Amino acid sequence: MDSILKNRPALKAEVAGYLWQKGWAERNGGNITVNVTEFVDEGMKALPAISGPRPIGKVLPHLAGAWFYCKGTQKRMRDLARDPMANGSIIRIRPDCASYEIVADLPVAPTSELPSHLAVHDYLLAKGSPYRASLHTHPIELVALTHSKKWMEKDAATRMLWSMIPETKAFCPRGLGMVPYMLPSSVELADATIRAIDEDYDVVMWEKHGVFAVDTGIMDAFDQVDVLNKAAQIYIASRNMGFEPEGMSDAQMKELSDVFNLPK
Ligand code: 13P
Ligand code: ZN
Repeated sequence: MDSILKNRPALKAEVAGYLWQKGWAERNGGNITVNVTEFVDEGMKALPAISGPRPIGKVLPHLAGAWFYCKGTQKRMRDLARDPMANGSIIRIRPDCASYEIVADLPVAPTSELPSHLAVHDYLLAKGSPYRASLHTHPIELVALTHSKKWMEKDAATRMLWSMIPETKAFCPRGLGMVPYMLPSSVELADATIRAIDEDYDVVMWEKHGVFAVDTGIMDAFDQVDVLNKAAQIYIASRNMGFEPEGMSDAQMKELSDVFNLPK
């Protein structure tokens, strides 16, 4: 099954190594899922399940027969970067759209955040989105921002982060959605994540926990989080130098949006 992971832009297990290097992936922190259905050939379709069925916890009508690579629960990103198939597995959604089975390579149980990941993939397929990857990670500075009510206000953090350095809006043009604290791995958190993504965000914060990002591939999802966290670091660096950063002016932001054709 390794062939499914090789040379596929959507997968890029090296991103797991970047998450560890960034300090965003303590212990088993964070998870990755990628919709790999388009890479599954007829021979693979005939493979028997090696474990399951297991319930998802939600009914996801657009996922019947879909295949996903999932980080294993309790598995470490730094290990996944070296050996994705020992630290994750390939699952197939059963025709009931409410359960899945593990198909390859080993019976590694998928991430505890599977309800959020699969609910988001279901939503993306329903919308006809080209996005195939979802990433949850614990970026230090972005998580720190969510400990303040001020930055949890809708689009307050987005405006501040965009104004720190022009690239932020250029490469994360939909900004940063905010999801109030909910129990990790819960179906409620999955539902709230969908609501935030439906407001047209690619990246949403889970208050006092982490970030959840979607994009065409896992590298692109990582890049969006990386530019946002860089902006948060610039804000914090200014505060550490003893001043509130000025930020780009409204006129500068407008010029950027006009020239690069970004949403207002
Ligand atoms: P898993 O090890 O189950 O993927 O959980 C990590 C995590 O970050 C939960 O929010
Ligand atoms: Zn987490």
